[in-house]
Amino acid sequence: MSNTLRPALNNIPPHLQTLADYEKEAMHFLPEVTWHYLQGGAMSESSIRENLNSFEKIKLIPRHLNDLTQGNTECHFLGQTFPHPIFLAPIGHQQLFHPQAEKATSLAAEVLQSNILLSTFTNTSLQELNKENPYKWFQLYWQGEREKSLQLLREAEAHHYKAIVITVDSPHKGIRDRENQVFFQLPEGMQHPHTPAHIPLPELKEGDHPVFNGLMKIAPTWKDIEWLVEQTHLPVLLKGVLHPKDAEIALAIGIKGLIISNHGGRVLDTSISPIQALAKIRQHVPRDFPLLLDGGIRRGTDVFKALAMGANAVLIGRPYIHGLTVAGALGVAHVIRILKEEFEITMALMGTASTKEINLEYIFQESYF
Ligand code: GLV
Repeated sequence: MSNTLRPALNNIPPHLQTLADYEKEAMHFLPEVTWHYLQGGAMSESSIRENLNSFEKIKLIPRHLNDLTQGNTECHFLGQTFPHPIFLAPIGHQQLFHPQAEKATSLAAEVLQSNILLSTFTNTSLQELNKENPYKWFQLYWQGEREKSLQLLREAEAHHYKAIVITVDSPHKGIRDRENQVFFQLPEGMQHPHTPAHIPLPELKEGDHPVFNGLMKIAPTWKDIEWLVEQTHLPVLLKGVLHPKDAEIALAIGIKGLIISNHGGRVLDTSISPIQALAKIRQHVPRDFPLLLDGGIRRGTDVFKALAMGANAVLIGRPYIHGLTVAGALGVAHVIRILKEEFEITMALMGTASTKEINLEYIFQESYF
């Protein structure tokens, strides 16, 4: 980190070849406080490290000499065909990283045909994303009550978002030591067109517990989610599920897919990494029930591993924000392209011509030998 911040670039220098290169570079473009907000997580940040380490531990077993000339990276679920399985995770407050914020991100996503999940805490209104783009979903944070949550959902419907993703893993903010140490705060006056930056807390009476009678009083329950699902024709997915029993309940109340995630290690430290949770959850839901994985994807081989363990698609978060920080839309597009090309080459080297063929047989397990 330097004291003199660099303005975002208008071209891509040749030393930026990997997502890790973008991460190193982005550090020089952000104030220190913002950098810690982006990179940091909950408590000791053990989940952040584990999200990455879990992928490294998984070993691939390639197959050879298959005809791959008809190969492609398409995937099909929720009645849609996605050209490739690399989606952009919902990240709020993107003006922290680049003045064009979600406008730049969504433009890059559209060009690379990457499904974008627009955050409730977007600085860009959801109307501003191209209405013709079929690859956009809306991420919904519960607004403390049913009617306000429904209002947000109605806006997403009206503006042609194809699915609603409710984040369920953070009814309370995580304990963010790193952020607190540098006194991170959102800039005064930052605009969020769809929601206040902080949902108003219920007033505490004497003797009330600050957590259980505070945020927990306005947190959603399964009944609220079930109600919301009944209000819309759009598929509703839950983001942040890690427990197979929650997956079963979700399925039973009409949820159409899950995003297996520990919120990038930002909420509950030492929670299981999503890739560890995935195979188990896959055993508890039907084969065609969409499961997406979010957390720790940095290489095309990681995308392959997630699909092999049962994911239909993956989400990247911090990596595209590194791209946004360094070079706006161009940087986001380059990050997606790098990952997509790595994934294509991994598919070729693994001997798989379609995402449908990618399964557990390509993953080393002691029992195979
Ligand atoms: C918000 O969702 C955050 O992780 O900071």
